[in-house]
Amino acid sequence: MVNTMSVEMVKYYSDRAKEYEQIYEWRDPDRQEEQDRMGEEMKKALRGRSVLDVGCGTGYWTQRVSTTAERITGVDINETVLDIARSKKYDCPTAFRLMDAYALGFPDRSFTGALASFWLSHIPRETMGPWIEELHRVLEPGAHIFVADNTFIEGVGGKLVTKPGDPNTYKLRTLNDGSQHLIVKNYPTAHELVELFRGHSRGITEKNVFHGRCFWWISYSYSP
Ligand SMILES: C[S@@+](CC[C@H](N)C(=O)[O-])C[C@H]1O[C@@H](n2cnc3c(N)ncnc32)[C@H](O)[C@@H]1O
Repeated sequence: MVNTMSVEMVKYYSDRAKEYEQIYEWRDPDRQEEQDRMGEEMKKALRGRSVLDVGCGTGYWTQRVSTTAERITGVDINETVLDIARSKKYDCPTAFRLMDAYALGFPDRSFTGALASFWLSHIPRETMGPWIEELHRVLEPGAHIFVADNTFIEGVGGKLVTKPGDPNTYKLRTLNDGSQHLIVKNYPTAHELVELFRGHSRGITEKNVFHGRCFWWISYSYSP
């Protein structure tokens, strides 16, 4: 079932699909260095695992993780980005499915690893808990989880929009064709991240979080 909050998101990522990976090619050495470090950490964390890549998009990180993972299943709500992901080559067995991240069509305990890159920021705060529950339902105890996203940088990635009484923040994004999209874009602190995942990982602390200039990531083991 498609979550109604995702309808604008589906259109946005369909329109953006072809230009999406430009965000990984900025000519900013500090940003590239942090991005490369994130890639290395992600590959290390998911080495040898059967990985669910949630909101896999065009498969940019799927491809990198495929160099160390045992196998990967990428899911996304958007057929346009999945077509791009399917057109790439991967270093481990990899499959893609059209699927809503809030209603994963897999039996309990199907995977030993999970990747969610640049997806958490798009989840409305009120549905982060239900998504995290659903994610862990399909993971084996002992699975490793790697969640990464952007830190807030003033002026980067469109204008930040807030709404009175709404805990979420939004970005007004303009694509190359001039179309504008208002999308949920939240920026959790390291403390908030630990609180979000605490119920699924005993002993998780802010040491599990990297909070850099451009990116953050949290990497932990699932201990129910
Ligand atoms: C910012 S992109 C990240 C793509 C990829 N993980 C990456 O890091 O390059 C967010 C992705 O989440 C997908 N998405 C949005 N809502 C979704 C949902 N409810 N279920 C699954 N995927 C969703 C979008 O289609 C988009 O491909």
